[in-house]
Amino acid sequence: NAVKAIESLKAANREEERLLGEIDPHRLPQHIAVIMDGNGRWAQRRHLPRIAGHRAGVKAAREIIETCARMKKINALTLYAFSVENWRRPKTEVDFLMRLLREYLRKELPVIHKNNIRLLVIGRPEQIPEAVNHDIERAMRTTAGNTGMKLVVALNYGARAELVDAFN
Ligand code: FPP
Repeated sequence: NAVKAIESLKAANREEERLLGEIDPHRLPQHIAVIMDGNGRWAQRRHLPRIAGHRAGVKAAREIIETCARMKKINALTLYAFSVENWRRPKTEVDFLMRLLREYLRKELPVIHKNNIRLLVIGRPEQIPEAVNHDIERAMRTTAGNTGMKLVVALNYGARAELVDAFN
C-alpha cells in the first residue's frame, strides 16, 4: 500500500524524482512535526522584507501538507506556526501573520477537505483574534469527519505554557 502510494506521487522534476526514489516507504514516520522557522533569514538572504519570507513559508508548508497527505501513510503532520513568544514581534508582523493564516485557511480549505485531511489546532485559543478562531472552528468543523491525515497547527504554543496548562 505504502509502495503504491509513493509510486503514485508524480515527480515534478528530476530532483524530486531522485528524492522520491530515496524514500523507503516501509520506514515512513507516522507523525512529522515542522517548526516553521527561518522565514526571516530566508527573506534577509534575498534582500526581501520579512513578510515575503512568511509568504514563502506558507508556500513551503502547503507543499509539505499536500505531499504528506498524498503519501497516504503519514498519520499526522504538526506545524508549529506561532509560539507564545511570537507576540513580542512588532504588531504589524503579528497582524500580517494572523491575516496570512486566515488567507491560508480560506483558500486551502477546499483542497484540505478534498485531500481527506482533518484539521486540528492546538495551543491556547485565548489571545488569538476572534476572526482567526472563527475561521479555525469552521475549518475544524468542515473536516471533522475526514479520515485521512491529521493536520495539526500549533498556535500560541509554548513548552512552559503546555506544562502549566497540563498541571492546571
Ligand atoms: C518563524 O520565522 C515563522 C513564524 C513566526 C511564523 C510562521 C507562521 C506563518 C507563516 C503563518 C501560518 C501559516 C500556516 C500555513 C500554518 P522567523 O520569522 O522566526 O524567521 P527567523 O527564524 O529567520 O528569524
